[in-house]
Amino acid sequence: MNHKDTKGTKASRDLVASISRCFFAACLCALCVFVVPNGSSAHETLTTTVLFDREIVRILNKHCVMCHVENGPSFPLSTYEQTWLQGRKVRAEVIARHMPPWAAVPGYGQFANENNLTLRETQFMVSWVEGLGPRNAGTVFLNVQDSGAPRPRPVQAQADFGHWQLGEPSLLRELPANTIEAQAANDIKRTVIDLGLTAERRVRALEYMPGDRRVVRAAFFTVQETGQWIGSWTPWYGFSSLPEGAAYRLPAGSHVVAEIHYRGAKERVVERGRLGLFFADKPVPNTVSSLVLEGKSDSQKLRAESRLAADAYALALRPEIGAGVKSVEVSARKPDGGTEILLFAKDIPVDWPTPYVFKAPVLLRRGTVLSVTAYSAQPGRIRLTVTTASSISNH
Ligand code: HEC
Repeated sequence: MNHKDTKGTKASRDLVASISRCFFAACLCALCVFVVPNGSSAHETLTTTVLFDREIVRILNKHCVMCHVENGPSFPLSTYEQTWLQGRKVRAEVIARHMPPWAAVPGYGQFANENNLTLRETQFMVSWVEGLGPRNAGTVFLNVQDSGAPRPRPVQAQADFGHWQLGEPSLLRELPANTIEAQAANDIKRTVIDLGLTAERRVRALEYMPGDRRVVRAAFFTVQETGQWIGSWTPWYGFSSLPEGAAYRLPAGSHVVAEIHYRGAKERVVERGRLGLFFADKPVPNTVSSLVLEGKSDSQKLRAESRLAADAYALALRPEIGAGVKSVEVSARKPDGGTEILLFAKDIPVDWPTPYVFKAPVLLRRGTVLSVTAYSAQPGRIRLTVTTASSISNH
């Protein structure tokens, strides 16, 4: 009797267990049907080895979260859920090379501040989305040992701002506040900052910290007295630093002009950034200067050129282009007749102006003709600033 009872109970327990297993599986199936990422067909299965917790988080950290973050210019792509829900759009944007915004075509010049996906990174993202976006290799949190233990934090992409990347600046200035109205159109505001310098200084680096990342698209800094461009900020590259042994000259009493490119946010924002300058601590052999190429045209081809009177190292390029510019090419025609293309940028995202900072200084011999050519939908002007150093110390 007892024996039978136990048996019966066990059988029914098994039955219940298998029914609930089936039910659970059915629920999962139903879930799958509902949550298959947009645009995927029911035939697709988990066919990718790319995981959110592994490859995708790294790509987001490196290329996306500087903008796709809470209190940033665009919707957050930090957590698994946020990214998964945008899967179809992410796939489309990276294939079309719209995101991240970066126009330089790989293969012409190498830039320290480039923000484009490598072919491999693009393939990872596409494969992840098409493979239904797996999170990890099946790591399940079973709180068996200690039910009170805190849940492990889910893996997510993380932005890293709010501190000086180059360390404490030698000189820190708060910029005047700018008010950006809700939903305002793109705009550029210029302000002049008195540095309060009583003696000449040499600057080896500059860093900017925007007061509100939702509204700042870019910032460019020039010295009012010399007209020299000394550095820039973009959401993905927040500082400008010169190679070892090179510095900009800041005369006593000089001012910095900040040109800040804004975009409107959902609400009105009062923005107040900070500028940090880093002085060279010992006398620096090389001063750095700017070469400006400027041209105006009545046709759709805008062009300017300049011949170098002495050997120089190009450190960075800053094209200033108007709306309608489709492509920009910067090239160096060498005295021996060869031509080197220093930059080729196309499908330029007008919302995200950026300089192009060379990964390694580019030596240009005396007699080289530097030129900039842009193709534009309408006639207009082109301006290119090239930061050059007379020589570079090798380390
Ligand atoms: C420099 C800032 C910036 C970076 C870096 C950036 N985005 Fe964006 N992204 C934006 C903004 C801003 C928008 C919203 C479009 C707009 O309002 O102009 C956007 C829109 C999108 C959209 C939506 C497009 C649509 O159809 O609505 C996707 C998807 C996207 N980004 C994915 C990415 C991914 C993936 C990365 C990294 C690989 C990335 N973005 C890097 C700023 C950025």
